[in-house]
Amino acid sequence: MNKSTSLLELSNVTAGYGQSPVLLDVNLSVNQGELVCLLGRNGVGKTTLLRSIMGLNPLTSGSIIFDADDISKTPTFKRVKYGIAYIPQGREIMPYLSVEDNLKLGLAGSGKKGKSIPKEIFDFFPMLRDNLSRKGGLLSGGQQQQLAIARGLMANPKLMLFDEPTEGIQPSIVQEIEQTLKRINEEKGITVVVVEQKIDFVRQLAQRFFMMEKGKIVARGKSEELTDSLVNQYLAV
Ligand SMILES: Nc1ncnc2c1ncn2[C@@H]1O[C@H](COP(=O)(O)OP(=O)(O)OP(=O)(O)O)[C@@H](O)[C@H]1O
Ligand SMILES: [Mg+2]
Repeated sequence: MNKSTSLLELSNVTAGYGQSPVLLDVNLSVNQGELVCLLGRNGVGKTTLLRSIMGLNPLTSGSIIFDADDISKTPTFKRVKYGIAYIPQGREIMPYLSVEDNLKLGLAGSGKKGKSIPKEIFDFFPMLRDNLSRKGGLLSGGQQQQLAIARGLMANPKLMLFDEPTEGIQPSIVQEIEQTLKRINEEKGITVVVVEQKIDFVRQLAQRFFMMEKGKIVARGKSEELTDSLVNQYLAV
């Protein structure tokens, strides 16, 4: 792999909660402009991995390089400023704040406080413009997911981390969310790492995949190399 194009590089990352290790010696590299999927059954450590990249879980050992800087010990708010956005599992928008104020929270974290919402946000999400004054909690699940994605975009990131963005979203909206991720990647050139369980999505939209089991990356490759036997081995319940 050409190192010069690597945007994110995890080397021998070990992390966990208290005394219990969750990530065991994870090595993973994502190139500038890629869209990659992180796969694995419940509880294997996918969320923990994204949280570690974001600095929400300290590393026990190993290192994380982002955009040629070692960010292994960098606090989360600085990682946001450097250009990493995290859209957590379950979305975590502010239900009692308006859509507009939820969006502006995305600016606050990036150090661009006080600026207005860029028009392109509404090109991506026209629905948000029509609902600016509504409370976030009154939006549908799919709309809340769009709000969470838009909030992440507000900081103008280089890398976006999505944790199961289509989980719990009604089927008719799932495709819309998937297309949004594709557009973010293709039109804005933002590198995307997405935890996703829908194999069709991985095969259609991702360039590469990483398969996790018990805190380790056990398989990786181009998305066309995600065979049914790998799916059966590591994803079927
Ligand atoms: N806050 C926490 N404190 C202690 N243990 C935790 C905490 N969060 C997660 N764990 C444990 O860490 C392991 C990995 O959890 P994680 O949430 O990273 O898995 P996941 O792959 O994202 O699962 P899912 O598909 O269900 O979202 C699990 O054994 C889980 O119980
Ligand atoms: Mg998870």
